[in-house]
Amino acid sequence: MNNKINCLIDRINRSLSDSVKEKPGLIDTVINAEEYSLMAGGKRIRPLLALLFCEACGKDSDDYVNVAASIEMIHTFSLIHDDLPCMDNDDYRRGKLSCHKKFGEAQALLAGDSLVFLAFETVCHEAEKNVIDAKTCTDIINLLSKASGAQGMIGGQIIDIESENAEISIEVLKELQRRKTGAIISAACEMGCILSGAYDKIKDAREYADNLGLAFQITDDILDVEGSFDLLGKPIGSDRRNQKTTFVSVYGIDKAGQLAAELTEKAIKCLDAFEDTDYLKALTKELLTRKK
Ligand code: IPE
Ligand code: IPE
Ligand code: MG
Ligand code: MG
Ligand code: MG
Repeated sequence: MNNKINCLIDRINRSLSDSVKEKPGLIDTVINAEEYSLMAGGKRIRPLLALLFCEACGKDSDDYVNVAASIEMIHTFSLIHDDLPCMDNDDYRRGKLSCHKKFGEAQALLAGDSLVFLAFETVCHEAEKNVIDAKTCTDIINLLSKASGAQGMIGGQIIDIESENAEISIEVLKELQRRKTGAIISAACEMGCILSGAYDKIKDAREYADNLGLAFQITDDILDVEGSFDLLGKPIGSDRRNQKTTFVSVYGIDKAGQLAAELTEKAIKCLDAFEDTDYLKALTKELLTRKK
């Protein structure tokens, strides 16, 4: 079971590594900082979801690893910026010094920016090679833009920062999460449907992703309190230090854990709308009990 997932992760890692190889005309500093953060590790959940959803819609995903890797570039950009002193001010990420600690703030900012454009360039390059057609290309660029921008992840980060040191309602907390973490996870699942041409499955994929995304952030909030730095590779207690309202600060650890378990069950039920979901089901379950 896990062989298949590990094999996909290897392919995603190879694709990412190739994408930040030195190329003529590129400036070493930004490439080094991009590569440092991109290749530092990371679970690769988002590209994995894209590939597994493509397969769950009945299409072989072999040709689409590079397209799927683009979403990991955007995710890594969000992490580099999330760690900056003006954001969460965290010194470690993926078990290594965070990008700004290693390269300085300006280079980290630029490496993050650069990864966004690399993501779009990567998708366009696959269209140039005719791996995907022009419509699939525009649909994916549109998807990634909306999920990452003010309507999506960045919008969530804005609410997250504005809510520091403030009392926020559960509704606002859920909205914050839906954008900050949910939007990119949902885009990953939707990307798989688009790649397979199964546009009619997007609604079901979104429903799965809404449940998984929320469960994923709740688990992230729990790990921020009771995780291990050695396993997690990022600081514990960051949320409390930054006075964030999280699912743990609102519900407490036990109730938050219960909620994550319920949402995971719901996500797994949503997979009934798809075929060949054994790997997706296994991954969804694993994410609930993850330690990193
Ligand atoms: C961490 O994401 C940030 C959140 C959106 C909660 P991951 O837990 O997927 O981080 P990596 O990619 O494995 O490092
Ligand atoms: C950030 O959420 C989600 C992003 C958009 C990067 P967190 O701030 O909780 O993520 P971690 O815990 O630092 O990975
Ligand atoms: Mg944050
Ligand atoms: Mg953070
Ligand atoms: Mg967190």
